[in-house]
Amino acid sequence: MVDQSDLPFRKLARQYGSNLCYTPMIHSRLFLEHKRYFESFNLFVDEAKEDGPVFAQFCGNDPTIMANAMKKFNTKFVDAVDINCGCPQGIARKGRYGAFLLEEGDLLVSIVENLVKELDCRVTIKVRILPTGIEDSLALYRRLVDAGVSLMTVHGRTRHQKGQLTGAVNWDHIKMVVDAIGDRIPVIANGGISNLDDIRRCLEITGAAGVMSSEGVLEYPPIFTGTNTVATSGKRTGPGRLAIAREYISLEEKYPNKQGGQASGIKCAKSHLQHFLYEDLQSGGEVADEARRKLHCSKSTADMREVTDILERLQAERGHKVEEEKLGWYMRHRTEGEDEKETKLDIPQVELEDDFSGCFGGMIGETGECGGDGDGDY
Ligand SMILES: Cc1cc2nc3c(=O)[nH]c(=O)nc-3n(C[C@H](O)[C@H](O)[C@H](O)COP(=O)(O)O)c2cc1C
Repeated sequence: MVDQSDLPFRKLARQYGSNLCYTPMIHSRLFLEHKRYFESFNLFVDEAKEDGPVFAQFCGNDPTIMANAMKKFNTKFVDAVDINCGCPQGIARKGRYGAFLLEEGDLLVSIVENLVKELDCRVTIKVRILPTGIEDSLALYRRLVDAGVSLMTVHGRTRHQKGQLTGAVNWDHIKMVVDAIGDRIPVIANGGISNLDDIRRCLEITGAAGVMSSEGVLEYPPIFTGTNTVATSGKRTGPGRLAIAREYISLEEKYPNKQGGQASGIKCAKSHLQHFLYEDLQSGGEVADEARRKLHCSKSTADMREVTDILERLQAERGHKVEEEKLGWYMRHRTEGEDEKETKLDIPQVELEDDFSGCFGGMIGETGECGGDGDGDY
């Protein structure tokens, strides 16, 4: 996830049961051309290889540039390279990559063939359903398997389903993919996962080899454990969101993502806190406003700790119960009418990355909010 699956976050997710993580998406051409961008991805701090298995995800549309970028990447630390054919954002349309590349089938197949020939590690792919329908999608996916992809993750939505139009994911389509190619390569289902019950249902309905979560795990990393199960009690029995935020801050201090953690430093860390603590930050009132202002202007992990202290006060005042916590950020585009309930306050908000493509900026130089270098210094 762009500027979000940084090393500290991957560590956190693994601690709570994720058994395969991806690097943030790497832009192949920028990786070859920009020294700072290259360094932010290539310097793994985790040389002990504790962070595995991990796939490095790339985007691009040129067979040679993609192969050169992947060769230049330190592939000894990763278990596969993945092609992003899922990104639906404007920048991907402009760059002819992500979900838009799926609509250039011949080019995509030639990219896969070239990578399989040129690289000494496995090549995997993340796809969406084509806007022209599932039959066209299946025909393309079969060609991709023929070309040599070793694993396919299917986000069961089309590229039109994003932001306010996200809507429900189609697990029946993912099942059709599993039926079509699941005997040749593992198919991973993506979309619609907010707790352990969803995971069980998804695996049952789709027959997929596994599930991928993005927004659910970003908001509450223990969703892969039994601590967030709806069927058993509807109650959260695992750590509360404040505890998770603090765990992340500690990992961020241990593995500063600016030094090899593959993200943009403070901007990335602030986004994580925004996701973990969304419900508190959006809850309205003076204390929540203060916490949002503080988070917006945070320049260090110490500042972010102060945000958690403010919210601890807020939770105490409100008689907050961890077992009653629910996912809020994940649900914002999934429950009808929920968007209107979002508190709109007249203070700067930490950017929510519905258009996560803007995050490239943080990695190759950009002025931060509240003045100074957007990358922070810690
Ligand atoms: C902040 C953010 C960053 C993302 N970055 C990527 C990315 O780099 N590559 C990718 O394949 N998908 C990316 N996605 C999309 C997710 O992987 C996933 O396909 C989508 O959110 C649907 O899954 P979910 O319902 O579990 O959230 C990103 C999503 C978010 C919210």
